[in-house]
Amino acid sequence: MRSLRSAWTGGRLHDLLGVRYPVVQGPFGGGLSSVDLVTAVADAGGLGSFGAHHLRPDQITRLVADLRRGTGQPFAVNLWVPQDGERSAGLTEADYERHVARIRPYLRELDLRDPSYPDVAPGAGPDFESQATALLAAGPPVFSFVMGVPTRAVLDEARRRGIVTIGTATTVAEAVTLAGAGVDAVVASGSDAGGHRGAFLRPVEESLVGTFSLLPQVVDAVQIPVIAAGGIADARGIVAALALGADAVQIGTGFLVTAESAASAAHKAALHGPEAQTTVLTRTFTGRLARGIPNRFLREMSRFDADLPPYPIQDALTRHLRRTANRTGRSDYVHLWAGQAAPLTTPLTARDYLATLVADTEKRL
Ligand SMILES: Cc1cc2nc3c(=O)[nH]c(=O)nc-3n(C[C@H](O)[C@H](O)[C@H](O)COP(=O)(O)O)c2cc1C
Repeated sequence: MRSLRSAWTGGRLHDLLGVRYPVVQGPFGGGLSSVDLVTAVADAGGLGSFGAHHLRPDQITRLVADLRRGTGQPFAVNLWVPQDGERSAGLTEADYERHVARIRPYLRELDLRDPSYPDVAPGAGPDFESQATALLAAGPPVFSFVMGVPTRAVLDEARRRGIVTIGTATTVAEAVTLAGAGVDAVVASGSDAGGHRGAFLRPVEESLVGTFSLLPQVVDAVQIPVIAAGGIADARGIVAALALGADAVQIGTGFLVTAESAASAAHKAALHGPEAQTTVLTRTFTGRLARGIPNRFLREMSRFDADLPPYPIQDALTRHLRRTANRTGRSDYVHLWAGQAAPLTTPLTARDYLATLVADTEKRL
């Protein structure tokens, strides 16, 4: 059996990527990643990741160039694989009116107009195929993804270009599917994790497995390296994940509070507020289940839970509201994504946070 120390210093992620420490800074989609965060983590010996699912192909091309200029070390760029029906979900004018009417009071409080029908209709955002084409052409060292499995053509092209692929599983069956498709490593994402759930084989409510239960089962089921995600924020979590067989950890919320993340000051403060001790899963903000800190918008809108439009319609409906509220520090209207370990995080620079994780882990090992 491998020792925990050898898993930490010379494990399979080290072999695959050449990173010094088996610590992945989880990607943040929707504008919360930053080039500074990714390059700081990469330079400090971890794998930095940028969540790019909201970007147009030309923006992805520029992003990869910026990241490459910013660091000589490996980094990952992350996309969301589209799920069935996502770009073709119907939205009648009557549905549009009904859904807008519910958020209108909040829009008016911030002096905002209604979002237009074309902005909200499915298919308005960048499509995955053109994002993936731009990403593969730009050639980041690592392409990570969530919500599904890219086509064989995309995975083959990544391999041809020498780009390492990392998929995300929320169940054992998803991990087996990703391994079978030929991805190089898999994130086992427990339901403790912050942000959106990436279930793609079964309904998300039937795919909520906690990290401590999911991780060893995924380790037993696949041969590829397994990266543990969800609820890990300090050295105790890292050592526990290694003991359960992980090759590496992916930390999201812990890096969200660091100085370099693009989360607002209000979001970072909320991560250490009393409500962060009991995060919830909600569809309110985007139409897709995600873990965050309850606030006024989430609580008041929960009465419409049974009749919310799916992702990406609800995401587009509330986007302007959330962006404006975020800019103006109104945390009551913003998705305060957070994992269950939020209270364990420390507001440091990314370099200092990673250095603390490394020193404390080495002490414990
Ligand atoms: C604000 C936020 C945004 C996220 N966006 C993405 C994303 O776009 N793609 C992805 O694969 N994971 C995303 N995640 C998941 C993280 O990368 C990571 O796996 C997760 O946060 C780990 O659990 P933790 O929050 O308990 O550390 C996001 C997480 C957060 C908190």
